[in-house]
Amino acid sequence: APIQAPDLGDCHQPVDVPATAPAINCCPTYSTGTVAVDFTPPPASSPLRVRPAAHLADRAYLAKYERAVSLMKKLPADDPRSFEQQWRVHCAYCDGAYDQVGFPGLEIQIHSCWLFFPWHRMYLYFHERILGKLIGDETFALPFWNWDAPDGMSFPAIYANRWSPLYDPRRNQAHLPPFPLDLDYSGTDPTIPKDQLIDQNLNIMYRQAIHELRLDMISGARKAQLFMGQPYRAGDQPEPGAGTVESVPHNPVHRWTGDPRQPNGEDMGIFYSAARDPVFFAHHGNVDRMWHIRRGLLFPGDTDFTDPDWLDASFFFYDEEARLVRVRVRDTLDPAALRFTYQDVGLPWLNAKP
Ligand code: C2O
Repeated sequence: APIQAPDLGDCHQPVDVPATAPAINCCPTYSTGTVAVDFTPPPASSPLRVRPAAHLADRAYLAKYERAVSLMKKLPADDPRSFEQQWRVHCAYCDGAYDQVGFPGLEIQIHSCWLFFPWHRMYLYFHERILGKLIGDETFALPFWNWDAPDGMSFPAIYANRWSPLYDPRRNQAHLPPFPLDLDYSGTDPTIPKDQLIDQNLNIMYRQAIHELRLDMISGARKAQLFMGQPYRAGDQPEPGAGTVESVPHNPVHRWTGDPRQPNGEDMGIFYSAARDPVFFAHHGNVDRMWHIRRGLLFPGDTDFTDPDWLDASFFFYDEEARLVRVRVRDTLDPAALRFTYQDVGLPWLNAKP
């Protein structure tokens, strides 16, 4: 059976937060008796939101984005659309604040399994729509950190301005732009010259996003798992296994961004606090873009999984009207139907065979 959207009234202390973290509450606002609505896609006639590469965003866009985030940060802390509530949603689903319905004591974990891409897609979807609503702009789109292209292989400068609402002090101060990003970062900075590092990054992208997947197409059934992550059903232990892009570069980029002066690499370097850093949403924009690219360009018509335990897995989010919405994985598969897409910036790693 599919993992079901949790009982929100049953949110508890997150079990996966390390003991060295400050005391936190991950449970999003919820009042008993709130009735959830089932997700419906936006009208086909609504504007397409085109997510720009963060390093290409112009001043007018940046002004809008900063205004939206600052308004989100000013919402009352208990408004489900506030920045304070938004990061909790990630914390709750990522650190074991919910048990699986029907399995007390068995946590819901949306990482390291086949729910990784769909869950994060919808988390960004609602976050983006809330931001757009706050500035009255139906075309507003989140930026993406284009770390798969040489010009995006450093921390995106729009987040590095100390006076901006996009700033977060808990980041690795040695990795500010233009310091080059290592997509395979494991705790120490490489000493190779920058152009070599860029080539290495492109090779990593080729390996993680294409090569293994092409090989795996030969074996048929397993190909989706390699990219998407392992099956995870009701009653299963969490974290059966991550897909290629979740493992690398998703995890290393988190770690590279987080602050080594903090006990657990907060904010970006550990799940519970990751979404307190606004750059989280740009990082996950590009992660989501990888799924979009895979489905659209590399494997046209690929349905990932046809298993109803995947398609009918469900989650709760609050939408831009602060309504509680139940989303199923089957609702998440088509960005065009969700009315967003990505700026076309090319794929310099497509032929970067090592
Ligand atoms: Cu839910 Cu990048 O982590």
